[in-house]
Amino acid sequence: MKKWLTLLLLLCTICLTACSPAPSSNTEEFDDFIVVGFSQVGAESDWRNANTRSMQAALSEENGFRLIIDDAQQKQERQITAIRNFIHQGVDYIILAPTTEKGWDTVLQEAKAANIPVIIVDRMIEAEDDSLFTSWIGSDFRREGDTAVKWMEQHFGASPIRIVHLQGNIGSSAQIGRTAGLDEGLKNNENWQLVYRDTGDFTQAKGQELVEALLAENVDFNVIFAENDNMAYGAIDALKNAGLIPGKDVMIISFDANRAALDMVLSGEIAYDVECNPLHGPRVQAIIEKLESGLSTPKLTYVEESAFDASILTKEMIDSRGY
Ligand code: AHR
Repeated sequence: MKKWLTLLLLLCTICLTACSPAPSSNTEEFDDFIVVGFSQVGAESDWRNANTRSMQAALSEENGFRLIIDDAQQKQERQITAIRNFIHQGVDYIILAPTTEKGWDTVLQEAKAANIPVIIVDRMIEAEDDSLFTSWIGSDFRREGDTAVKWMEQHFGASPIRIVHLQGNIGSSAQIGRTAGLDEGLKNNENWQLVYRDTGDFTQAKGQELVEALLAENVDFNVIFAENDNMAYGAIDALKNAGLIPGKDVMIISFDANRAALDMVLSGEIAYDVECNPLHGPRVQAIIEKLESGLSTPKLTYVEESAFDASILTKEMIDSRGY
């Protein structure tokens, strides 16, 4: 009798093991958390790193999240692969900080088919169907460009200026908006001349390289319109290495308003810096928490941003900033 019972128990154990479903995804161990896959552009700038830190701080385990970050190294193909991996893992939400605006329809249709809400942050996407994402939160890059141009018009007046334009990644909203602002300024101001334009990929190294090459060719310019702070830092290094004085020989207009850049506004090296706010972590957290409670969230949210020249900036303002 005992033998039969042992055999029965053994059979039950085998059956239970064989019949229990295989883990459906890598997220099974995260059951108590809201699992978020974040496809980040890369680590090309101080702005980007501040953005990543903000996401990590808000979407933390203490706040009930398990955050999986994928760094795409500024390559859209890598972001598409990352999103497919998130879908395969069965994450609860996907956050996408897109490199460029175009080319997202197919992969976002796949996320939609898998019923995973997608939240876009920072730059925008150009989607055929806006149901492919739940919410977007980011900057009005065109307004940033216009803000810079307005300051340049007031500051330079009728003086002739010769502009070097360091663009961000071509096709990104940040580049498209800021470039469109400058183009409008060039159209409306006959005394502005564009002497050079190329992409510095939003990196300090590329910004420095481009300006060094211009100086080596004796290109004559007195304004640099750098589409982010890191390219401005690179440009400043190139000017200084060539014995030029930023803020005197060449006026620099920049974007982001990182703390280090605002210190340069105070010291006069950067003439004007238009803020681009990277602190999206708590904003995304609020969106997800609303969705978790069954509430709807705004489709598009533009963050408030400011701009600084030395006339309005103080050390206390810089020190109190979050990035
Ligand atoms: O999309 C925001 C831009 O991307 C920031 O201006 C730049 O620094 C970053 O790399």
